[in-house]
Amino acid sequence: MTHEIAVIPGDGIGREVTPAAVAVLEALDIDFEFVEADAGDAVKEETGEALPQETYELAASADATLFGAAGETAADVILPLRSAVDSFVNIRPATAYPGIDAVRPETDLVFLRENTEGVYAGLEDRLTEDVATLTRLTTRSASRRLAEFACDYVEDSDRDGFTIAHKANVMRETDGLFRDTVAEVADDRGVKADEVLMDAFATRVCLDPTQFDVVVCPNLAGDVLSDLAAGLVGGLGLLPSANVGPDRALFEPVHGTAPDIAGEGVANPAATIISAAMLLEYLGHHDEAAAVTEAVETTLVEGPRTPDLGGDASTEDVTNAIVDRV
Ligand code: NAI
Ligand code: MG
Repeated sequence: MTHEIAVIPGDGIGREVTPAAVAVLEALDIDFEFVEADAGDAVKEETGEALPQETYELAASADATLFGAAGETAADVILPLRSAVDSFVNIRPATAYPGIDAVRPETDLVFLRENTEGVYAGLEDRLTEDVATLTRLTTRSASRRLAEFACDYVEDSDRDGFTIAHKANVMRETDGLFRDTVAEVADDRGVKADEVLMDAFATRVCLDPTQFDVVVCPNLAGDVLSDLAAGLVGGLGLLPSANVGPDRALFEPVHGTAPDIAGEGVANPAATIISAAMLLEYLGHHDEAAAVTEAVETTLVEGPRTPDLGGDASTEDVTNAIVDRV
């Protein structure tokens, strides 16, 4: 079976790390059809549109999408692309890889972030020059869908259960509904779930990340807490993510376009290549996913390394080393 993969490099180092991940996928014995499309600042400059309709439609119909990064137009690109795949969960692993100078090398967390509502539902108003409001949306259906996914995830990955991070002691209705719904689903499914107030989580995870494993959270909390965890494992350059919907999914590094190094050919391709490993896992190619992850890990330990990790290798050197190891 051929998998159609939409490839959307975007801007800046997105144009350097996305081809690197495609090169790794091409080295595998799997039938892929890659279809490339534009999005971001550069195409907006040319056409007036940051996300051309054909790019949106490609993501909405391909089996999976690999996205790099977009610059100033990031929100105009990534939010509609996530809805093109009807993505209700954002998976963000924060793992400290061997050989990396991490603040907390023992960190091995996975955030499962609600990806459609909360304070990112776009329900904002400017009432007067001095007053702005925001409506926070929580629905039982979105909370339930996330919880079912979290239970599947825990079962499939042999993890021990999950922690619900919330602030239901203050946001009693919205986070109350979120917490109660997720806990109910876990109980029905026989999956172990405990809970933590999200502010306490921030402190506790810094002091001892091994207290946590899979963390299920509302949209904003997931965004902020997973970036915090990125700090614990050695920065954004290594973090992959997946936006999963019912029928398709989009994979992207957590980092942006890195304008300070774009064009120099020294961007670290690891985050995007690990995102490609998540894509392989999603498409059911478990052995290949494991092989790619292992090749990245070996390369992080033995080199070559890009300058952000203290080396002097280029994106191409690192990519070639990973391809050879795969
Ligand atoms: P950034 O992630 O692009 O860069 C932050 C720092 O990390 C920079 O020093 C950069 O050189 C370094 N870095 C990031 N990825 C790296 C890699 N793969 N290899 C080596 N070093 C790496 O975040 P910043 O600077 O806040 O944003 C730059 C632009 O990216 C902005 O225009 C922003 O809107 C956009 N952005 C887009 C995102 C997306 O498309 N999903 C996400 C975050 C930012
Ligand atoms: Mg963020």
